[in-house]
Amino acid sequence: NVNSISVLILAYLFGSIPTAVWIGQAFFNIDVREYGSGNAGATNTFRVLGKKAGIPVMLLDILKGWTATNLAYMIGLATTGPVGSLPFTNFQLALGIAAVMGHLFPVFAGFRGGKGIATLFGMILAVNLPSALLCVSVFIAVLLITRYVSLGSIMAGFMYPIGVTFIFPTYIKSVIIYGMCMCVLILVTHQKNIERLIRGKESKVNFFKKKEV
Ligand code: G3P
Repeated sequence: NVNSISVLILAYLFGSIPTAVWIGQAFFNIDVREYGSGNAGATNTFRVLGKKAGIPVMLLDILKGWTATNLAYMIGLATTGPVGSLPFTNFQLALGIAAVMGHLFPVFAGFRGGKGIATLFGMILAVNLPSALLCVSVFIAVLLITRYVSLGSIMAGFMYPIGVTFIFPTYIKSVIIYGMCMCVLILVTHQKNIERLIRGKESKVNFFKKKEV
């Protein structure tokens, strides 16, 4: 119905807020898409502008996914689903996906956005908290061991469908299917990173310096 379509559009617009681009332009007079990996996401903001910009971008991007996914609940279109509680309706999943699409293809930034990791994380935080925490643990472990953010994102992406199916099972078919699609989406958005990883050219995080090497 009309209500659901308007809320979906709202979720897309919400996801479209290009935090990395706007924070870079407003406070540093820099479009992060012209530097580093060229990605309008938290990782590249950390890389180009340091943690002062990276942390707010990361938090706001997570918030975008979380809020969009909970929009239906907030405005009374769904009775289930605030803050990681199950069951989740397909409509709520669709809202999260709309926000992720906004992040990837932002109407407010020429449709050149990010790779969706922080926004997807916000979304899965809203859908299934234990599995989201499992993913973040995998992400941090891979990042600490390899110093590749992209590899951490990809491994966390693999962990989500495993988490919602076997470790903290939701028994909700749409959540499991969503998890698998999310994993594929991450592989698609990280194609260039995967190529660089294979060639040994992916940039590593240097935890002891402000910028990456
Ligand atoms: O969050 C995206 C991350 O996995 C990779 O970002 O800038 O290194 O391509 P980037």
